[in-house]
Amino acid sequence: MKILGTGSAIPRKVVTNDMLSEFLDTSDAWIVPRTGIHSRHVITDEQLEDLGTKAALNALEMSGLSVADIDYFICSNVVGEYVTPSLSCVIASKIGLTCPCVDINCACPGFIYALDIAESRYLAGKSKNILIVCAEEPTRMCDWSDRSTAVLFGDGAGAVVLGEGNNIKGVELHSQPDVQKIWEKRVLEKTPYISKEEENVPLQMRGREVFKFAVNASTRDVESLLSSLGMTKDDVNYYMVHQANMRIIEAIKQYLGERDEKFPTNIGDHGNSSSASCPILLDECNRKGLFKKGDVLVFSAFGAGLLSGVAVLEW
Ligand code: COA
Repeated sequence: MKILGTGSAIPRKVVTNDMLSEFLDTSDAWIVPRTGIHSRHVITDEQLEDLGTKAALNALEMSGLSVADIDYFICSNVVGEYVTPSLSCVIASKIGLTCPCVDINCACPGFIYALDIAESRYLAGKSKNILIVCAEEPTRMCDWSDRSTAVLFGDGAGAVVLGEGNNIKGVELHSQPDVQKIWEKRVLEKTPYISKEEENVPLQMRGREVFKFAVNASTRDVESLLSSLGMTKDDVNYYMVHQANMRIIEAIKQYLGERDEKFPTNIGDHGNSSSASCPILLDECNRKGLFKKGDVLVFSAFGAGLLSGVAVLEW
């Protein structure tokens, strides 16, 4: 497939590190060197589905396709206000889409998992034009009195419209299932038959272990896919790495032995927006005119699961 259009939408509210230190025992001086995050966009009175809808409409407008041309819609989302119907159905109802809608929950690498599903359907002859929306509100998953997680995340939505083409050169997905590294639990409705003890547990993370997983998974995935495609790092123009943490990105850059200019980033004013981070970064770079025809973009993302994925695209 080929990316025909990109879009994104972010909440209005900007929360700086200094604003966090008004109610958390933290500081700009602690957060910036460890994460690269200066501020993040946080959902207030917006609905996540409205951000997803706006991102989708922006991508559709750029693609030149109409809603009626889209024959499959994938939404990547970890958590939203609706349990059912799926977020893809909620967004579809707002933009008048009537094609099949599916949600995936693959945490931060969700965009790459969605690209894989899209490309597989296209190659199977089942779909021609596919919409992907990654819409996430991880700030609603954290305990805002826990400084070890609350400072890391931001909300937003990113979207792409894919159509006919031969520009997705390859996708590789990996899992290393481990529930204890990043997790959150919700209590469901009570029934007369439930006797087990249950409690809501906000997002928990073993930061240092996740850091190591992220750097190892990303460098392994990138090198493995490039090699199976018969490409080298010299062929790559840009690495579009999941914006989780500037130190993770710096470590990946160092292990790959690559130059700063190949790594566009927006972590500084977005924080980690889970699966929305790659398509938001893509849209921002695209609208700035960063990419030229023929450029090779490598997407790499990693997160809860533990899951990771990499995709090579020609622009
Ligand atoms: N402000 C001030 N101090 C903080 C803090 C904050 N926001 N968060 C943690 N600390 C403190 C801890 O309480 C601890 O204090 P102690 O030594 O008195 O117990 C100290 O800083 C060190 O904590 P630690 O968790 O070991 O810090 P770290 O150097 O590993 O940095 C992360 C924490 C989260 C920045 C780092 O582990 C990381 O980047 N991990 C990857 C996270 C990530 O990106 N996850 C998503 C992947 S999809």
